[in-house]
Amino acid sequence: MEILRTIEEVRKLAARWRQAGERIALVPTMGYLHAGHLSLVKEAKQRAERTVVSIYVNPTQFGPNEDLDKYPRDFARDEASCREHGVDAVFYPDNAVMYAPDHSTWVVEESLSQTMCGLSRPTHFRGVTTVVLKLFNIVGCDVAVFGRKDAQQALIIQRMVRDLNIPVEIVVAPLIREEDGLALSSRNKYLNADERQRALSISAGLRSAASQFDAGERSAEALAATVRTAIEAAGGRVDYVVVMARTTLRPLPLVNAPAVLAAAAFFGKTRLIDNIFLDP
Ligand code: PAJ
Repeated sequence: MEILRTIEEVRKLAARWRQAGERIALVPTMGYLHAGHLSLVKEAKQRAERTVVSIYVNPTQFGPNEDLDKYPRDFARDEASCREHGVDAVFYPDNAVMYAPDHSTWVVEESLSQTMCGLSRPTHFRGVTTVVLKLFNIVGCDVAVFGRKDAQQALIIQRMVRDLNIPVEIVVAPLIREEDGLALSSRNKYLNADERQRALSISAGLRSAASQFDAGERSAEALAATVRTAIEAAGGRVDYVVVMARTTLRPLPLVNAPAVLAAAAFFGKTRLIDNIFLDP
């Protein structure tokens, strides 16, 4: 497995692969890899002869009061996981490689980004779309794999690729959970034992709402209230609980079309997100 620190190294290796007729899949990550990330690697390996994982904690997607400085990092462990999972190359750039000191060009998606996480993190998705397009341009991948854990992010990337005619196929892979239901996230590392226990209320609340839905409840307000109540009863601070149309992210007061029930909440200082799909 190759560890690539510069754009030139990536381009050289990718060109060699392409010349040999091999397709390239990219799995963009911010590292501190867990089973959710590694499920994307498995998916990538099904889709192309070569798999590249990028590990880069992208500063432009963090707000001024967010967790950029303390975002968990463990490159040695990530490297071992990638090797074990048959990754061909890890792109591990530093900030100087990714951003010129006077960089001033952004990719901005202006519709889907304005709801849900975009409301509490107003510059977040601009940072995500910009770095993801840069990574696509650096690697020249044929396919890129994203997780449904970040359902809004995946939709925004799909919209960007469509709107800008980017020749990359986007694959969205299932959300991976711990056995007790907690959605896997690098940020779970911030939780102490008590917070982690209480954070289970997010997935438990979503599961209760899913049962209600299966029993015939179609009111978004009622379904969202179930999740909100569960989180608040566990001492969490809700950022949002919403029911949105699956592809437009417009509010869906009555769930009579494919929907996503999504939640964001703080436990202590840690902001967690989770979602489930509702299919009438
Ligand atoms: P990061 O949070 O490291 O996530 C990288 C990829 O792993 C994303 O596509 C995310 O949806 C997926 N992922 C995370 N947890 C998952 C889980 N429990 N199940 C399935 N997939 C999961 O998302 C980012 O990094 C960044 O915004 C990035 C796209 C790399 C741009 O900087």
